[in-house]
Amino acid sequence: MSNSKTGKPLSTSDSVGPSSRESVLNQAGGVVTDRYLVWMLARFIRPFWRDLLLVFLMLIGVTALSLLPPYLIQRAVDGPITAGDLDGLVPYGIIYFASILVLFLLRFGHTYLLQTVGQNALVNLRQALFEHILRQDMRFFNTTPVGQIVARLSNDIEALTELLSTSIVVVASNLVTMIGIIAVMFAINWQLALIGLSVLPIMTVLTVYFRRRIRSQSSLYHRVVGEYLAFINEQFNGMLVVQLFGRQQVSRDEFEHINRQYRDVHMRLRDMYTVYSSTLQLLTTVGLALVLYGGGQGVLAGWASLGMLIAFIQYTRRSFEPIMQLAEQFTQIQTALSAGERIARMLNVEPAIVDPPNPVAPGKLQQAITFDHVTFAYEQGHPVLRDVTLHIQPGQRVAIVGATGAGKTSLAGLLTRFHDVTTGSIRIGAQDVRDFTLAELRQRVTVVPQNPYCFNGTIADNLRLFDLSVTQEQMTAASQAACADRFIEKLPGGYDYPLLPGGANLSQGQRQLLALARALLHSPDSILILDEATSSIDTETEALIQEGLRTVLKNRTSLIIAHRLSTVRDADRIIVMQRGQIVEDGDHDTLLAQDGLYAQLYRRQFAQQGLTSSVSES
Ligand SMILES: Nc1ncnc2c1ncn2[C@@H]1O[C@H](COP(=O)(O)OP(=O)(O)O)[C@@H](O)[C@H]1O
Ligand SMILES: [Mg+2]
Repeated sequence: MSNSKTGKPLSTSDSVGPSSRESVLNQAGGVVTDRYLVWMLARFIRPFWRDLLLVFLMLIGVTALSLLPPYLIQRAVDGPITAGDLDGLVPYGIIYFASILVLFLLRFGHTYLLQTVGQNALVNLRQALFEHILRQDMRFFNTTPVGQIVARLSNDIEALTELLSTSIVVVASNLVTMIGIIAVMFAINWQLALIGLSVLPIMTVLTVYFRRRIRSQSSLYHRVVGEYLAFINEQFNGMLVVQLFGRQQVSRDEFEHINRQYRDVHMRLRDMYTVYSSTLQLLTTVGLALVLYGGGQGVLAGWASLGMLIAFIQYTRRSFEPIMQLAEQFTQIQTALSAGERIARMLNVEPAIVDPPNPVAPGKLQQAITFDHVTFAYEQGHPVLRDVTLHIQPGQRVAIVGATGAGKTSLAGLLTRFHDVTTGSIRIGAQDVRDFTLAELRQRVTVVPQNPYCFNGTIADNLRLFDLSVTQEQMTAASQAACADRFIEKLPGGYDYPLLPGGANLSQGQRQLLALARALLHSPDSILILDEATSSIDTETEALIQEGLRTVLKNRTSLIIAHRLSTVRDADRIIVMQRGQIVEDGDHDTLLAQDGLYAQLYRRQFAQQGLTSSVSES
């Protein structure tokens, strides 16, 4: 893996192998400028500006009060203590105590307020990010590993939480304190101030140097974390393959590798920080020694008082504190900024497939479909559909057959705008599919995919998709039409049978039946597309489904993509696709008579069936 951001390659022992888990998105989101990042954060903080103003005022109060005690001590030492006036000390004691009390309240107040603002701003950011991802088109989900999206919504948001609820206040209060201390020091005694602050320039140079190094190390760290998450996500999703092919050893090795890299990068980051903070400690001690020495001289020479010397020792130590604390925030802030950058980049990805500005009003569902010279490519220059023209009459039952990779699924996907045509157009009735809102379009066209997804929940939850207005009668009717009722009723609890994640406790065929029932339930009058939706279902059940669908699909247009030609045979019309083009079009008998590709396919399947039946008979 080469570190593209800093241009420095990692040492070879660090390389994680295939590089590009993050790269697709890096391109997709484009470059995020600092200004955009600030704008994005500001957008989420702006609603809370009143609270933030209050926080800032409290902060100034805190600074002023925390600068008071050394000054009080100086006045007490040079005044009543030197004079031996015990009663004169009392007001100092009272003011000292009162200021500490108020300081406590202010500190509590601004921390509490800022935490609240930070958390609320992040709730909004998280919501916005999630909603943004929901709007993305299929290209986004095809090119973005799930692990990456998860990392944005979890780790990265977490890093920003730190920034908003802790780092900002620490940085702001330390900057204010710093300015306050320097001002007070110069006001009390400028010679001592100069001595006390003499090591400050060295600290500044040191800070700038380390800031740069820590930043690049920190972005490296986060890329490693991203790879780590993506890796475990992929491994667990592919566990079946891992175990079937005995890849545990390979997985373990690769994990060990990433795991070690994780540790190494983290430790390098810690090391840098440790060196930096110890150096600062050293410089602080040097600064204090200088004040003691110079101040001692001053007291002896008469240009400083004893009280001043005592106060300055405190002020000097305090003046270094903000730098130390700022340094401590470095890692956090860098982490948060690069997390913010990744979030901003994701928020920057605009879906290509969106509602039109002036969608057509929802109306009666039209059933005719027209593909008008449609060419479509996922990647520029590699069309998977070439000049497809096809007109389907309302209510027609159309089958689409063709070899794997011929473009059948792509054709179906264009109809629901999972992708948009490259050239040409697709119409439903007289309306271009791009004239409907996406919701409206997908209400009109339903696709049942080959690998349907089951959500965590019961069978009923999966049927009604958590829409509680769907009644049991409706569910039963849809299940009957899809022939799903027979297996559902045999399950313990029937419709209340709980599914394992991904529907692991159903067979592939049962999941397909469920998906078919779900589609019939939710889109009672839409155009129905079955994309190899019954491929894992036995021939007998499939025949029953065909029977059932005949009633349900009366007057509805349907497209049935299938390999099993027994499914296809009864269709009103059969379309044969080859390498992205329609090569044959007609009903079963016409196509057989044409003696083309379909006839070939048919004879081959027929021969196989003949073979298996003769084997089983003998
Ligand atoms: N998301 C995708 N990105 C890029 N190419 C794709 C994508 N999906 C499918 N393809 C390509 O498009 C061609 C047609 O695929 P598809 O429509 O799924 O075929 P079929 O459903 O007929 O088997 C294939 O060559 C495949 O490699
Ligand atoms: Mg397909």
